[in-house]
Amino acid sequence: MAFFYSIIISAFHFSLLMLCSLTTGSTNLTNTLLHERFEKWVLKHEKNYSCHDEGQHRLKVFTNNVNFIEKFNREKKYGYTLSINHFADLTREEFMAKHTGATPSPLVLRPSNELDPTSLPPYVDWRTRGAVTAIKDQGSCASCWAFAAVAALEGIVKIKTGELISLSEQELVDCVTASDGCDGGWSQKAFEFIISNGGIATEVKYPYKNVQGKCRANRIEQDEKASIREYGTVPRKNETMLMAAVAQQPVAVYIDSSSSNFQFYSGDGIYDGPCGVNLDHAVSIVGYGDNKGKNYWIAKNSWGKSWGDNGYMYLAKDVHEISGMCGLATHGYYPIM
Ligand SMILES: *[C@@H]1O[C@H](CO)[C@@H](O)[C@H](O)[C@H]1NC(C)=O
Ligand SMILES: *[C@@H]1O[C@H](CO)[C@@H](O)[C@H](O)[C@H]1NC(C)=O
Ligand SMILES: *[C@@H]1O[C@H](CO)[C@@H](O)[C@H](O)[C@H]1NC(C)=O
Repeated sequence: MAFFYSIIISAFHFSLLMLCSLTTGSTNLTNTLLHERFEKWVLKHEKNYSCHDEGQHRLKVFTNNVNFIEKFNREKKYGYTLSINHFADLTREEFMAKHTGATPSPLVLRPSNELDPTSLPPYVDWRTRGAVTAIKDQGSCASCWAFAAVAALEGIVKIKTGELISLSEQELVDCVTASDGCDGGWSQKAFEFIISNGGIATEVKYPYKNVQGKCRANRIEQDEKASIREYGTVPRKNETMLMAAVAQQPVAVYIDSSSSNFQFYSGDGIYDGPCGVNLDHAVSIVGYGDNKGKNYWIAKNSWGKSWGDNGYMYLAKDVHEISGMCGLATHGYYPIM
């Protein structure tokens, strides 16, 4: 039944697009090929446009993005490739507005536990130790701050209790009054809420809705296993100290994701620029390692599995002055149980 429904939907998209393409009256071969490519892409990603202004506009944006991606991949100036993913019909500005959402607040230094930078393991991957839940998708809500905090929390809960429990970003989006829900926020504020709330609900009990709603923390059972007593701040601009924190548990960090290369990162290779240090996005660092002498961080993102390496990103480590690649070593936070 569901399958049949999706076929009807797809046929419907297709006819909309056909209408769009008829109105262009194009006989140019390059345009026709791009059109076909766009139509296939639209079907694959189940995009719904109201014809024909929207369709035409999206085709234009798609074309620009495809050209950008193909040029980048031809030039091979960096150590990774880009791919035409489900974000290919969005301009950089549109993408930034909906899919990021962190603003670093003035740094509040917290007791940073006892991070020990001596005798660190050369390789850490919390995914292989069962401390990382499946990749999630923040959708078109600027709630990365909640996803990064929850990923770090899920990690410490697994490490301390032995149980991997998927926890609720929606509760944070709805209830953290010190953040702005789907208009951006702060992972530290999420931790402060979790401390005072005595935990948060599971993902199953308080599922993600992609919009901010009324806080239902009082009406939904809270998982007290997911409670923390404190959170620590990783000493700034020191990747060794970030390593020490990540060797201990997954860590929420802020990064600058404003480059178009971020939007289209394919997962093939280590992201080694371009980027600045204007922090606008939050992810969780779930490991680090080295590949033939190139050190990298493993970041869990919240842009779905079709982005990056099944939702993950590898960022160059120990190369970018002291702020870390894309500023990742400037604001790191980890929950303490
Ligand atoms: C066809 O369209 C492409 C892209 O818009 C353009 O670069 C090319 O010059 C056009 N070719 C002809 C023959 O008009
Ligand atoms: C397009 O509409 C269909 C049916 O309403 C829905 O299943 C699908 O998720 C929509 N796609 C997008 C990208 O919104
Ligand atoms: C990082 O912090 C450690 C511990 O405080 C210190 O020994 C080391 O010199 C620092 N490294 C840098 C690059 O500041």
